[in-house]
Amino acid sequence: MPAISGKMEFDTAWSYAPAPENADHIVLKKRYELFITGKFVKPQSGKYFETLNPATGKPLAKVAEGSEADIDKAVKAARKAYTNHWSKLPAKERGKYIFRLARMIQERAREFAVIESLDGGKAIRESKGVDIPLAAAHFFYYAGWADKLNYAFPNTNPSSLGVAGQIIPWNFPLLMAAWKLAPALATGNTVVLKPAETTPLTAMKLAELIQDCDFPPGVVNIVTGAGATGAALVNHPDVDKIAFTGSTEVGKLIRRATAGTQKKITLELGGKAANIIFEDAPLDQAVEGIINGIYFNQGHVCCAGSRLLVQESVKEVIIRKLKDRMETLIVGDPLDKNTDIGAINSQQQLATIEAYLKLGQAEGAEMFQSSCPVPQNGGYWVRPTLFLNASQSHRIVQEEIFGPVLAVQSFRTVDEAVKKANNTHYGLSAGVWTDKGSKIFQMTQKMRAGVIWANTYNKFDPTAPFGGYKESGFGREGGLHGLMPYLKM
Ligand code: NAI
Ligand code: MG
Repeated sequence: MPAISGKMEFDTAWSYAPAPENADHIVLKKRYELFITGKFVKPQSGKYFETLNPATGKPLAKVAEGSEADIDKAVKAARKAYTNHWSKLPAKERGKYIFRLARMIQERAREFAVIESLDGGKAIRESKGVDIPLAAAHFFYYAGWADKLNYAFPNTNPSSLGVAGQIIPWNFPLLMAAWKLAPALATGNTVVLKPAETTPLTAMKLAELIQDCDFPPGVVNIVTGAGATGAALVNHPDVDKIAFTGSTEVGKLIRRATAGTQKKITLELGGKAANIIFEDAPLDQAVEGIINGIYFNQGHVCCAGSRLLVQESVKEVIIRKLKDRMETLIVGDPLDKNTDIGAINSQQQLATIEAYLKLGQAEGAEMFQSSCPVPQNGGYWVRPTLFLNASQSHRIVQEEIFGPVLAVQSFRTVDEAVKKANNTHYGLSAGVWTDKGSKIFQMTQKMRAGVIWANTYNKFDPTAPFGGYKESGFGREGGLHGLMPYLKM
């Protein structure tokens, strides 16, 4: 793996020897089965699909493709576990299982991190430093609420719903599983979880831990597969709740499919967040925040700061600093600890991003990419990219690209910044960079975004609710709010 990136003038300052994370301790199975009633079972169709390592384009393992019949079996298992065990268990005991799972994730964190990077392409720095610790933190946090629901929602006598169907994406595979499972289990529901087809391996590892924790069989069932498997879960008549994170397109399908049924739904969909830099901001800190907000995790982040709005007086200096910093970013082997930007998750996502790179140029924006080398090995790579002189009507400004691509616009006044920030179909998140507290409050009140970070970006905590406005979906995950969608009150 080339250990160096950047132009000649950066070579001396920014070359690092390779520092690969050891993957020798990882034993992947050749084939992963479905996890139903606490056991690993073969799919009824006998069909399997491959999950690849996007950094090489080569297969890692075969994974069971769950059909409608498998979903039915899993939902029945979840219903039985709900009726016979989980709903009858004292809340304190429920909490103990979840605490145990949280501790086991911590103990096995390194293994989870390496598998996450192998299967999904994200840099090990991210999976080890962000994804896995946050996943464990979510289980710890919600385990604590299990026996305190009457205090969380006084005078409402909260009770569980029953069986939750949960469908998750590929950008934060284990973390999204934690966001879904932890509140559902803490509130006394049982679950059928459908991981994304390109990143099922950490969910299957989690299934092994769930077995080791002695969870009552059927409390958590994991059925792998693609869109059809997810649709079978959405359409199953005995599911009480659907929680979905993914594309707005599939979110709309789910909303239609559940209309007129008793099913509760929460949808966490896409975003097109604006990161807004005012002239009085700490500029270097802001540049670092912009870089983190769009390039970390390959831009596969629903709340990525994919638009930069910069005040005109500091535009030139910010763009120069951004370009300089981009030149130091290292694209390459996800398992190398020096890597900033790992592999794009799939060939399909790579094609989407490349189409937007062409489109942005055709629309008249000026493209800048860092000059770092990228591996030529059959893996999926994109250099960090900027689009300058983008205008509000450009599709690269309006649509979610879900890659390391930043569209830059400028503004003069606070009002103009707010108008531009709000002018998309999405409303998931935003960032404000300024020295003035009053400006932060002014902006946060006027912007239609579920999460707004001030002088920082992409910071997560299990206690803080997360979710969007408009086409970014509805319902909140995280914090006390994250318990509500799983409760009758
Ligand atoms: P997707 O929405 O198709 O996939 C997300 C999950 O939904 C996967 O588990 C998938 O198997 C499942 N799914 C697909 N079709 C379904 C259906 N009809 N019924 C039920 N479940 C279904 O997203 P995809 O195609 O992987 O990515 C497309 C775009 O979506 C990305 O380019 C990105 O813009 C956006 N996206 C947003 C995410 C977010 O975190 N908000 C996560 C992943 C993708
Ligand atoms: Mg994979």
